[in-house]
Amino acid sequence: MMRVLQGQTAILTGAAQGLGYAIARAYAEAGMRIALMDVQQERLDAVAAEVRALGGEAVAIGVDLSDAAATQAAVTQAVAVYGTPRVLVHNAALLREVSMLDVTFENWQKELNIILQAAFLLSKAVWARMIEAGGGSIVYLSSGSGIKGFVKEVAYCPGKHGQEGLMKVLAMEGEPYNIAVNTITPGAPINTPMSASNYSDELKQKWVDPALLTPAFVYLAQQDARTVTGQRLNAWTMSEAIRSATTIPLTS
Ligand SMILES: NC(=O)c1ccc[n+]([C@@H]2O[C@H](COP(=O)([O-])OP(=O)(O)OC[C@H]3O[C@@H](n4cnc5c(N)ncnc54)[C@H](O)[C@@H]3O)[C@@H](O)[C@H]2O)c1
Repeated sequence: MMRVLQGQTAILTGAAQGLGYAIARAYAEAGMRIALMDVQQERLDAVAAEVRALGGEAVAIGVDLSDAAATQAAVTQAVAVYGTPRVLVHNAALLREVSMLDVTFENWQKELNIILQAAFLLSKAVWARMIEAGGGSIVYLSSGSGIKGFVKEVAYCPGKHGQEGLMKVLAMEGEPYNIAVNTITPGAPINTPMSASNYSDELKQKWVDPALLTPAFVYLAQQDARTVTGQRLNAWTMSEAIRSATTIPLTS
């Protein structure tokens, strides 16, 4: 299954660590050409070297995705290097647990910009190109926070809810052009730096390697609007289904 992605292009944000890093490795093993984006340039350079060692191609684009102009420049660079992406995975996010009383407008806006503004800007930058290419796949990393409220998630939660809304609109607009737009939630506790600073000790007992979630992302890189679009997917159940080669559940 993996070889069908050989030489195909991905844009992947938040690739320096955690789930994004695991997805970068999986795409590399599939032989993909990946425009990696993250604010942590040094780590990203190391990930790009790993991608190449695994048989993929990579360009490491250091960018602060809360900055609109920088985000637009980054995606312009990605397209200039590898052309129209087959898949765009917007995985970068920032979660600072702060109550309404203590949050500043600047911090609220920064988190929201990374999660939602960048989702819009990255999608906007590839949209016409994907139409021209005859289709593509856009994936936003959602969360339980995309459908429920949690205290101290004054920015993260509306950001993830916003991604769900953007996905629903773009899935409708993308359908005639064969562009799939979906959100995906991990569906299992994952061992990442974000989790290390936010999970309870109890949850840390159960967390799994994010590499176990990557079959879902390899699958989504091959999809377009004819197969799965407008869905809120679950990376854990999808990956488990792919591992056991049963029917793939398309709802979370
Ligand atoms: N960890 C979980 O339990 C969990 C649960 C639900 C959803 N998610 C979502 O999964 C995705 C990956 O989460 P993770 O646990 O790997 O997180 P993480 O914090 O470990 O990694 C996020 C990556 O995003 C990058 N990033 C942060 N701010 C950025 C900016 N301004 N510009 C560019 N890059 C930036 C970070 O440098 C990092 O490499 C996120 O979208 C997160 O919201 C995670």
